[in-house]
Amino acid sequence: MNLAVIGTGYVGLVSGAGFAELGHNVTCVDIDAARIAQLERGEMPIVEPNLPEIVRRHAAHGRMRFTTDLAAAVANAQVVFIAVPTPSNDNGSADLRFVLDGAREIGRAIARYTVVVTKSTVPVGTADRVREAVARETRHPFAVVSNPEFLKEGTALADFLKPARIVVGAEDPRAIAIMRELYRPLMRTSDRMLVMDTRSAELAKYASNAMLATRISFMNELASLAESVGADIDMIRKTVGSDPRIGTKFLFAGCGFGGSCFSKDLRALVHTGREHDVHLTIAQSVYGANERQKHVLGIKVVSHFGGKLAGRRICVWGLSFKPETDDIRDAPALTLIAQLRNAGGAVVAYDPVAIENARLALGEGVEFAHDPYEAATGASALVLVTEWHELRNPDLERLKACMKEHILFDGRNVWSAQDARDAGFTYHGIGRP
Ligand SMILES: NC(=O)c1ccc[n+]([C@@H]2O[C@H](COP(=O)([O-])OP(=O)(O)OC[C@H]3O[C@@H](n4cnc5c(N)ncnc54)[C@H](O)[C@@H]3O)[C@@H](O)[C@H]2O)c1
Repeated sequence: MNLAVIGTGYVGLVSGAGFAELGHNVTCVDIDAARIAQLERGEMPIVEPNLPEIVRRHAAHGRMRFTTDLAAAVANAQVVFIAVPTPSNDNGSADLRFVLDGAREIGRAIARYTVVVTKSTVPVGTADRVREAVARETRHPFAVVSNPEFLKEGTALADFLKPARIVVGAEDPRAIAIMRELYRPLMRTSDRMLVMDTRSAELAKYASNAMLATRISFMNELASLAESVGADIDMIRKTVGSDPRIGTKFLFAGCGFGGSCFSKDLRALVHTGREHDVHLTIAQSVYGANERQKHVLGIKVVSHFGGKLAGRRICVWGLSFKPETDDIRDAPALTLIAQLRNAGGAVVAYDPVAIENARLALGEGVEFAHDPYEAATGASALVLVTEWHELRNPDLERLKACMKEHILFDGRNVWSAQDARDAGFTYHGIGRP
């Protein structure tokens, strides 16, 4: 099948590569000409495991193309995916400007029956608005489908190719049949496609993200209580997670979740509720709890040093919002670094892949090192924010030798508190005694 994917970010590029892997011909479109030029040179605009190899292979075989010419890509496609950003407006609602601009452009370009699919995370009712936007521009027949994406950055391609479920919200039987055909290679072992109306599909995506965020925030709040009462959140997590009704995933306490999705989607969900006089108090609280949680690590560091960090170097390990990605959107490290700098600290940071993005976001005033131990040299404290594998088992002797003061803040509870103390460090975790 000939497909067009509008937007070549974490979702668009990965989906495009995934569909090419399933045997389809994919034209990836972006308004960012520099990004398209980069892709044409075989360079990736994002860091995602296995993506470069797959994109380069399909580009070489002509199954993936890159262009800024949306009209040509759409005219040639049976199915067009919208995978553009849906950031938060000031009031928390989702900004649909990019989606609706895209829909209008698609409407002007379609040349025959076309399935227009929203892959972006969009509020309930957006499919209707996309339908109106396209209809105003074309006389050709078309259908609108909601096909929200559930991939996780860091394992995005694997998630796309082995999805737990494929949600298709559609009212047009012809469009549903095309979506089935499109995803057929992923259905060999089991039919993972959940077909529903567009409104349910749109809401299902928000519900999934809100549930995952709720689990994390619930454990983060319990971690604060565990700390206050002298209990160990690791044992609480293991106890809770071993109940098969609950399961072990997304129960790790830490310094808050980041990324471009959870916070924005919680706010958009709450806003949708407000528009319909339904007060989503749980989603609202989860958002607030996470905003507070993102400050917990910084508060620990600053109060350890009596409220003042002037004259001290503080080393931060990990900048991306989670391991295996260069995405720093809403990353807890950004909140922490602002706190440390406000208290007068000199921040030196290390991350395996996210330094360039962090430099753009933070500007001057933060020093970056390309080696974790170089970053820690002369530091009064080392703060782990992102649990990259290479940072999970630090060489404590080496740290002891290069740090000025021996204080560790483990924002992800991945280090052994005992080992750290045995090596002569003061250790602070999240919800650990
Ligand atoms: N990142 C994730 O893990 C993830 C997972 C599931 C769903 N989502 C949702 O998918 C959507 C996209 O997220 P993302 O992280 O891929 O965004 P992103 O910022 O990484 O990429 C978006 C791309 O769209 C391009 N773009 C914007 N307007 C355009 C237009 N009119 N025409 C062509 N290109 C345009 C941008 O230049 C950019 O390259 C959002 O709604 C997000 O909530 C994201």
